[in-house]
Amino acid sequence: MGDLRDPNMKRIDCKELAEKFIKEQIKAIKEQVGDKKVLLALSGGVDSSVCAALLIKAIGNQLTCVHVNHGLLRKGEPEQVIQVFKNEMKDNLVYVDAVDRFLDKLAGVSDPETKRKIIGKEFIEVFADEARKLDGVSFLAQGTIYPDITESKGIKSHHNVGGLPEDLKFELVEPVKFLYKDEVRQVGLALGLPRTMVFRQPFPGPGLGVRCVGAITRDRLEAVRESDAILREEFANAGLNTKVWQYFTVVPDIKSTGIKDDKRTWDWPVVLRAVNSVDATSAEVEKIPYDVLFKIRDRILAEVKGVNRVLVDISPKPVATIEWE
Ligand code: XMP
Repeated sequence: MGDLRDPNMKRIDCKELAEKFIKEQIKAIKEQVGDKKVLLALSGGVDSSVCAALLIKAIGNQLTCVHVNHGLLRKGEPEQVIQVFKNEMKDNLVYVDAVDRFLDKLAGVSDPETKRKIIGKEFIEVFADEARKLDGVSFLAQGTIYPDITESKGIKSHHNVGGLPEDLKFELVEPVKFLYKDEVRQVGLALGLPRTMVFRQPFPGPGLGVRCVGAITRDRLEAVRESDAILREEFANAGLNTKVWQYFTVVPDIKSTGIKDDKRTWDWPVVLRAVNSVDATSAEVEKIPYDVLFKIRDRILAEVKGVNRVLVDISPKPVATIEWE
């Protein structure tokens, strides 16, 4: 694919250029949209968040954001989306609690690609249901970024609400489509989004679903979510959150014997994974200091239900992939 980005466009690497970009985009969005209504699927990831914040600046409450909680988000994420966009930015935010709908559809499904397909299809259906409830929407905004257009890796396909049914074909508004990730982050900072949102590590669209290996159950999913929250907290305490590219926990569907309060247990292991990468095509493992590892281990074993072991995955990509599914 040829270069779609204007070769004269300066790399947005400072506040001044980010502010200039914001000004230009506000003007462009106003010109494109006029007084019509715009809809956006807001995941809370940096791309859709920056897109939403730009649109709120440009057209205020002509924008409606839909945040679908599919039950596979990390601890605290839906709350942060509500806090930032509804409470602080006063956006028209529709929060959809679709947890049961997704988990019921996923029950008993162990094949990774089938899990991904169900999550993607269900996401579009939930979003379409919400879109139909809204009157007079003319545009669909998307946080497409430049690598999404140029790298046809297809891993973002489940995000792609371009697959909406025929009765919901909208004109697209894609204000950050010529930006690289680091530029989107600069723009996010200049828009005043929280650093925890702007510098979020990469997170797969199917979320924790691909880290609850095999058929997802609610209790094992909670073990993934709680252990992930502990890992993130301790990485932040140790200053590793700004150094390591991606870090998370995995809970495979296996059990082993343990002992707690003088009783035998039969519980899951939590696997810790922390990797560094530039573009996710290859990755090397971060050497987590032992004192940090032991702190994480102690907290997971004390605080996470149904877990009796903590393991560390030291496999690089290749031969492993970053995620387990
Ligand atoms: P793998 O596991 O293939 O992951 O080495 C490479 C990067 O892509 C992310 N990933 C996904 N992202 N939808 C996404 O949006 C997906 O289905 C998906 N699977 C993996 C993964 O977190 C890593 O950053």
